[in-house]
Amino acid sequence: MSRYTFKETNIEAFKKYWRDKQWKPSDRFNLYIDGPFCVQQCGFCIHRGDRVSINSPIYNRYYKEYIPYLLELFEEVLSFKVPDSIYFGGGTANLMTTEIMVDLFKQIPNMKEIPYKVMEGHPAFMTKEKIDILADYNFSYISLGLQTLDMSLLKRHNRIPHKPEKLKHLIRYCQEEKKVHVNCDLLTFINKGNAEDIQILKNDLKLLMEEYGPNLITIYPEYQGFSKNYTDITSFSIKEMDEAVTKIRSLRRGIMSQVRKKPRYNLLKENRIELNDEAIKEFLLDDYYIGKLSQEEFKKFHQYCCSSFPFHPPEQNVLGIGGYSRRKPYSYLGREHYFTIENKDWQPKIFKQMEDK
Ligand SMILES: C[S@@+](CC[C@H](N)C(=O)[O-])C[C@H]1O[C@@H](n2cnc3c(N)ncnc32)[C@H](O)[C@@H]1O
Ligand code: SF4
Repeated sequence: MSRYTFKETNIEAFKKYWRDKQWKPSDRFNLYIDGPFCVQQCGFCIHRGDRVSINSPIYNRYYKEYIPYLLELFEEVLSFKVPDSIYFGGGTANLMTTEIMVDLFKQIPNMKEIPYKVMEGHPAFMTKEKIDILADYNFSYISLGLQTLDMSLLKRHNRIPHKPEKLKHLIRYCQEEKKVHVNCDLLTFINKGNAEDIQILKNDLKLLMEEYGPNLITIYPEYQGFSKNYTDITSFSIKEMDEAVTKIRSLRRGIMSQVRKKPRYNLLKENRIELNDEAIKEFLLDDYYIGKLSQEEFKKFHQYCCSSFPFHPPEQNVLGIGGYSRRKPYSYLGREHYFTIENKDWQPKIFKQMEDK
């Protein structure tokens, strides 16, 4: 990260960078809107939002005042060029009610014209009505975190469980009636934290592919289970690195054993599986993908995601707005500048004062 300039900057300075940039036709513009709340916090999660309930004062102020205010502030940036994609992430982005979704989508300049749109969320908060709205706005994907289909394991991690039959129905509804693709996330190593957990992953993959049928399955290894300092792989001790390589090797074997049995699903980013142990170390915390997609379709899917800095292509430019408490979405311009945008007037203490009144 030190090779890049990181700045906390203000909105005016950010807008100037954006204006002064020499935009090339190959440059892409991705808009990220943060949903910084969670109704319940899952024990394993590194992205968790503050515990805030739907329609509480903080929630309403965030979605009805703060985000509209930011959209107005960035109107110049948003109207300058139709974004190539919009990504609603979190936290739990689909905690938005249907009214809030509609109001917000109406306020985003050129919303209908944005070609690639993703809504992330917790399956317990996804409904047919929300999917109808997302389909009306031609969303390309919804991305649902399942983590595991082992309900007792979810419970142990304080996670609100999903209802399997409702979820299967919603996935089919998206795909067959609304032409919206579905990604499901799985998180592995959240039971014992070692290679023994792969049996849970294998069961999950089998069930997901056979009964739920999402277009894409994303498999994450639980990062913090590798080391306290998981953000800096160079700090890993020899023991941590050896254990990590063993875990990833078993993860790859587990994935392969399941995907081979299902001709409709492809292993995507195959090169990650082919790696030898030395090369695994470079991609230790990488995610894995299985999909009913071709490699070409998958490339397109990834081309438009707001990849994490600094793992993004140089032509990617992201405006990230929102955030609350610890969550600060980043923005970046290619490889040159990386920001979080300071917004002192809207930090949690201001929200809290309002809540205390
Ligand atoms: C930004 S989170 C949002 C998920 C959504 N709120 C939900 O509960 O389904 C996206 C994904 O990050 C992954 N994730 C969460 N904690 C993780 C961790 N400790 N290590 C790696 N991936 C993690 C999960 O698979 C999760 O679905
Ligand atoms: S997995 Fe989702 S719901 Fe659970 S804490 Fe993380 S962001 Fe919140």
